[in-house]
Amino acid sequence: MRFDDHFLEELKTRLRPSEVIGKSVKLRKNGREWVGLSPFSKEKTPSFYVNDEKRFFHDFSSGKHGDIISFLQETERLSFNEAVEKLAAEAGMALPVDTPQAKAAEMKRRGLTDWMDLAQKWFVSRLQDKTPAAQNARDYLERRGLSKEDIVTFGLGYAPRDRTALKDALVQRGAKVSELVECGLLIEIEGGSAPYDRFRDRLMFPIEDQRGIVVSFGGRALNPDDKAKYLNGPETTLFHKGQMLFGLPKALKLLGAQETHAELVVVEGYMDVIACQRAHVAAVAPLGTALTEEQIEILWRRHPEPTLCFDGDKAGQRAASRALDRALPKLKPGRSFKVCLITGGKDPDDVLREKGALALREALKETRPFVEVLFSREAEAEPLDTPERKAGFKKRLRALAAQIEDKDLAEAYRQDLLERYDALVAPQRQAGFQGKAPFVPNQGAAPRKAWQPGQKREIYIPPAMEETRRAAVNLSSALDPTAASLAQGLVDNPDWMLDQVEGLEAYGFGDDALAPLAKALIALSFQHEGLDRPALSRHLQKQGLGALLSEIQKAALKSGAPFLSPDISSADAHARWLQAFNAVSRLTALDRALNSAREQVGTEFFSRLKLERDALRKSLRSGQIWQDGDESPT
Ligand code: UTP
Ligand code: MN
Repeated sequence: MRFDDHFLEELKTRLRPSEVIGKSVKLRKNGREWVGLSPFSKEKTPSFYVNDEKRFFHDFSSGKHGDIISFLQETERLSFNEAVEKLAAEAGMALPVDTPQAKAAEMKRRGLTDWMDLAQKWFVSRLQDKTPAAQNARDYLERRGLSKEDIVTFGLGYAPRDRTALKDALVQRGAKVSELVECGLLIEIEGGSAPYDRFRDRLMFPIEDQRGIVVSFGGRALNPDDKAKYLNGPETTLFHKGQMLFGLPKALKLLGAQETHAELVVVEGYMDVIACQRAHVAAVAPLGTALTEEQIEILWRRHPEPTLCFDGDKAGQRAASRALDRALPKLKPGRSFKVCLITGGKDPDDVLREKGALALREALKETRPFVEVLFSREAEAEPLDTPERKAGFKKRLRALAAQIEDKDLAEAYRQDLLERYDALVAPQRQAGFQGKAPFVPNQGAAPRKAWQPGQKREIYIPPAMEETRRAAVNLSSALDPTAASLAQGLVDNPDWMLDQVEGLEAYGFGDDALAPLAKALIALSFQHEGLDRPALSRHLQKQGLGALLSEIQKAALKSGAPFLSPDISSADAHARWLQAFNAVSRLTALDRALNSAREQVGTEFFSRLKLERDALRKSLRSGQIWQDGDESPT
């Protein structure tokens, strides 16, 4: 759309710069001008000036200078046209259109937009009603950790249960039923009874387009028996799902002027967008569908490498996989994605509620490059135990690289994927395993049991392929470093398994993401007598745990665990490992006890356990544990 000078002039006279800019920058009057802290740099003394008469802003800290249009372009990463459209909406100006049909369509859209806007305000007021149903909705929001301000910021509302509450309210204000059907607020069933409200007894999330205009709604069921947990508005003249991203206008504001380092995160759900934005992370979500090519383009226009963040559950894995496939052909230098998988079946909203904003921001920073995630997915697709399967795997990798339209990048991907292939499939190096001196248990350790050849136990469950695969894709680099170091210790020293099977079975390594490895180790220890390191490693690779092992290695490096150091005697290493392993088991046991003893909160018993748990956790997190056991056993 082109705008003539007349239109742009009109736009700029209608809007006062201090008002437009004052929405995102706190300004105070200073003579004829307004002054505030620069949105373009971090400064303590205000050097950002806005002049309403001359209709410009000037930023002394960065030297930037411009009008309201360029201000929006700079701070909200809008294109020129988008900025003009947004301002025109604010100024109440109709966009110039060429043909009569276009003009009519635009008029109609504006009419519908007005009803959407009114509906939005109506839902917002219904949430404040004094009815038990509205109270229930407010309680729900409170339980989910949303404050009154959050509710206002995100425009949350409530759609009452009555079938015609919204319809009646809007018709009374002059809306035609057909218009309300057209914008998706009412459902009309052909040959059925009169149209009725689409959203009933739901928490309402307004969906805004890039300009911040409400074009549809998402509604979350408040009644757990409701069949659809989330209901989205249908495709309408205003709302094209595949070309929109929920949360975009606010995300762009958050990205704003922070030109570097700010991440743009794509999450799965409404509540996840809200959680991220509450933690000041720019986040958006597709609307109940897989990421489309249009959405990918929208993202890339705003960020060279957005982060795709998916839930750690099955649906999340599928969504991640689909997004990889969609994006792959379109990758270019400077246009890619990072991938963040949140472990433990959690979503960003869970992380925010359980661990806070800092933890969420940290979790979102734990990303893996696109190429690596692509590779793991293929590597875990089937076991690599025969030459046929290995060759098939290699073929798939080549085919994937060939999908990239950019020729140079396709070649770079081919090389990278094949290097990874070689690293994974090449025979395991035997270095590093020199039969270590047998461990002499120090006092306090359980007596050593003889390992019965061929001994089997009833509890043995072969690790299901599906589970190991999920674990491998699931990990992200968010593995707990201490847990990873313990796992690495066992993989390097299979003889340390002796006497620890029960502990491993009961408590794992202290990170659920490592459960498949713990299971596999237990199973192997009963199937084979005295496996050495290379043999163990081969078995684990065969079971599809290769990717998990390499993640463990990476995470373990961060732990600072002394038993992984080559400068330590094997007896000492074993003792230090055992000490940490016991500490982690104890911590898990305490966590479980505290969780199941909730009703005892406040009792002395509870406080004692909690004190011990907190101290232990602190010692593990801070690395204190590694300092504690400096005296080596004799
Ligand atoms: P989830 O089921 O993961 O929900 O759906 P959530 O976001 O964690 O929801 P809470 O935390 O239980 O409230 C993720 C997204 O998939 C779409 C919605 O966009 C939702 O936010 N969805 C989900 C639907 O469209 N319909 C559904 O019935 C469920
Ligand atoms: Mn959720």
